[in-house]
Amino acid sequence: MVWKKQWTRRTMMKSISFVAVVFCVLAQQTWSSEILVIFPTTAQSHYRIVRPLIHSLLDRGHKILAITNFPDTAERANLSHIDISGLKPHSKFTTTNHGWVKVLSRISRNAITYATILDHPPVVELLRSGRKFDLVIAELFTSTPIFAPIAAVVDAPIVGFCPMIHFPWINDLMGMDTAMSYMPSLLSSSGDRMSFVQRVGNTVISVIINAGFNWFNSRIIRDIVKHHYGLQTKSAIETMTNLTMIMTNNYHSVFLPYPTLPGIVEVGGIHVVDEKPLPQQDLIDFINNADHGVILFSLGSVVSESSMGTDKLYNILDAFSRLKQRVIMKFDDEKHKNEIPTNVKVVKWFPQRDLLAHPKVLLFITHAGIMSVIETIHCGKPIVAIPIFGDQIFNAHLLVEKQVAVAIEYEHLERDKLFDAINEALTEKYLINMKKLQQLYNDRPHSPLETAVYWTEYVIRNKNESKELLKSQRVHLNLYQTYLIDIFTAFLLPPIIAIYIILWTMKRLRKH
Ligand SMILES: *[C@@H]1O[C@H](CO)[C@@H](O)[C@H](O)[C@H]1NC(C)=O
Ligand SMILES: *[C@@H]1O[C@H](CO)[C@@H](O)[C@H](O)[C@H]1NC(C)=O
Ligand SMILES: *[C@@H]1O[C@H](CO)[C@@H](O)[C@H](O)[C@H]1NC(C)=O
Repeated sequence: MVWKKQWTRRTMMKSISFVAVVFCVLAQQTWSSEILVIFPTTAQSHYRIVRPLIHSLLDRGHKILAITNFPDTAERANLSHIDISGLKPHSKFTTTNHGWVKVLSRISRNAITYATILDHPPVVELLRSGRKFDLVIAELFTSTPIFAPIAAVVDAPIVGFCPMIHFPWINDLMGMDTAMSYMPSLLSSSGDRMSFVQRVGNTVISVIINAGFNWFNSRIIRDIVKHHYGLQTKSAIETMTNLTMIMTNNYHSVFLPYPTLPGIVEVGGIHVVDEKPLPQQDLIDFINNADHGVILFSLGSVVSESSMGTDKLYNILDAFSRLKQRVIMKFDDEKHKNEIPTNVKVVKWFPQRDLLAHPKVLLFITHAGIMSVIETIHCGKPIVAIPIFGDQIFNAHLLVEKQVAVAIEYEHLERDKLFDAINEALTEKYLINMKKLQQLYNDRPHSPLETAVYWTEYVIRNKNESKELLKSQRVHLNLYQTYLIDIFTAFLLPPIIAIYIILWTMKRLRKH
């Protein structure tokens, strides 16, 4: 088969270049350091973005201790774990749990459950041991204020790793202004060209989220930080002031071009590893026998598909049954086994990245989670987006603007709508646009992994200076200083008062 031949050749080339890279890397490696990685959320997709960086750093001779819910199963020299799985209940989002107010309240409830990790005996022991590290890499998410102070305890600089394109307080932490006129909040659904009404909406959401996170949440965080580290802080942002650099799961040619600072490093796509052959023979047979190609369906790992109502499921299955293509569907509920159309294969899990790379796969129906979106762009396949909550709505909006995806609102997931959306996304326009986007995604000076490794080691090498090296002095200014309100007041107020007094006196004099 042609695709198989192509695939083998590509894999061989990749293996050769991989060996070459490893060889070069090992040849130039001369130093070793100790790194502490803290990824406390129970979203496996978040840990997937840092795992390639961990292994690359190990290849280069560093030693790593990872605090994670998802320890590697295979042993590796110089890699150890503190397993925190089971400490924090892993509650999957249901398909009805959307809306940013719900997301926000869930975030603040989470702060309390994260504190249980700080009471976990191996973590307590680590913090009491006096052990020093050369660097801390912390997940930049809602948990960061609770874990960032660990860096001072282990006497190391700290860098954040954000699993999303962007996060509301990244700018504040690195000393950059957030221009709400063209920088859409992750929880809004506008792009960077906003109408008046959208700008109003974006400003309101941005202010509420920042204030909500920073102040609403602050008392809980303040208490936790005081109790565990003996630190007095005023706000959630203040507990993270020692962050020296933040890596984001963004790449500007694919998402949005923003003003930036050296401390904000784009490593979008770092989680996409080389493709592997498909492991399951039944999947291979199913694909090989698809004369009109294959469509993938998955709502990701954080949403529980079984929470989807039966009516929605029937709508989906009905739309699929009318397609000439075959469909591989990730679905965690087995209740409806007998109602599956013959062109549909339901599985509990599939090797998404490897399936997307398969030449017979034409389209991905996805919740538009950022990891899935990047994998799909990497493989150049058009998308039908069914966003459910959080940044998914934002991601879907960007894809629709770039005309590489057709989006359907989850609440309006109807039979005909889905069928039409699939057929629309299968037209040539979407494939052409997606191939262009794929090319833009790949056109960069260094791979995301090389970029991440370079900047991680940069911080370690320049440990003593790193704290202020990559951010702007904005971090030390008040709002009134940043926006020059003090200067306007000092220079404009006296003449205004003077003019007012003169006019007032003249008026009085004329009256007499
Ligand atoms: C583990 O780290 C030490 C340096 O601390 C290094 O000499 C050794 O080669 C590393 N082992 C492996 C398998 O990378
Ligand atoms: C920041 O780092 C300094 C120096 O290591 C430390 O004294 C301080 O407590 C740290 N602040 C926070 C909020 O972790
Ligand atoms: C960093 O600072 C410490 C204490 O000030 C000093 O002992 C150490 O040599 C410095 N390290 C480098 C690489 O300059």
